[in-house]
Amino acid sequence: MSAPPVSDPRLLGREVLRIAFDEATIRQRVVEMGAEITAAYPEGDLLVLGLLKGSFVFLADLVRQIHRPLHVDFLVASSYGTDTVSSGNVRLVYDPETELAGQHILLVEDIVDSGRTLQKLADTLRVRNPASIGICALLHKHIAEHLSHPVRFVGFDAPHEFLVGYGLDHAENFRHLPYVASLK
Ligand code: IMP
Ligand code: MG
Repeated sequence: MSAPPVSDPRLLGREVLRIAFDEATIRQRVVEMGAEITAAYPEGDLLVLGLLKGSFVFLADLVRQIHRPLHVDFLVASSYGTDTVSSGNVRLVYDPETELAGQHILLVEDIVDSGRTLQKLADTLRVRNPASIGICALLHKHIAEHLSHPVRFVGFDAPHEFLVGYGLDHAENFRHLPYVASLK
C-alpha cells in the first residue's frame, strides 16, 4: 500500500488514512477489465448502465477500454435509511430511457458492500426482459457471499473500511480524487 499523500488540496483538510488503490494501479486494472468485458460479449447489443452517482468516474474510464459497439445509460437508485448502511429497499429515481428488452445489460457499480442495492436493481431490470444482466463493480467488499445475481467483473477485493475517491463519496465529498483512499 502506498503512503498517504502528504498534502492534497482536494482533501478539505480531512485526514486520509492511506491510499488503498493508487491511480496507476486502477488504470491498469481498468484496461484489463475492459479486455475481459470485450471478450465476454462477442455479439448482440450491449447497454452499459451506470449506477449514479458513484460509478461515473469508473464508467467513463471503463467504456473507453471496451472495444466493441455499445450504448451508455444511467440509473439513479435511492435506498431508504442512512447513507452509510444499505437498507435493502431500493427505488429507481431515474429510469433509463433506453429500451431494455433483448439487450445485454452490464450494470456498473462503484462498490459492492452488502450487495443489496445491486440485487434489488437486477431484480427490477429482469422484469423488462433483457437478453442478460451482468454486474461489474470496481470494488467488492465480499460481505455477502450468497448473491442471487453474482458480480461477474470485479476490479479489486476491497478492505472492510470506508473508502472514498474515484467516484466514491463521503457526504458527497472526495468523488474527484483520482485514487481510492481509506477514510479515517
Ligand atoms: P450495498 O447495497 O450494501 O452493496 O451498498 C452499495 C452502495 O453503498 C455503494 O454503491 C456505495 O454508494 C455505498 N458504499 C458502500 N461501501 C462504501 C464505501 O466504503 N465508501 C463509499 N460508499 C460506499
Ligand atoms: Mg454513495
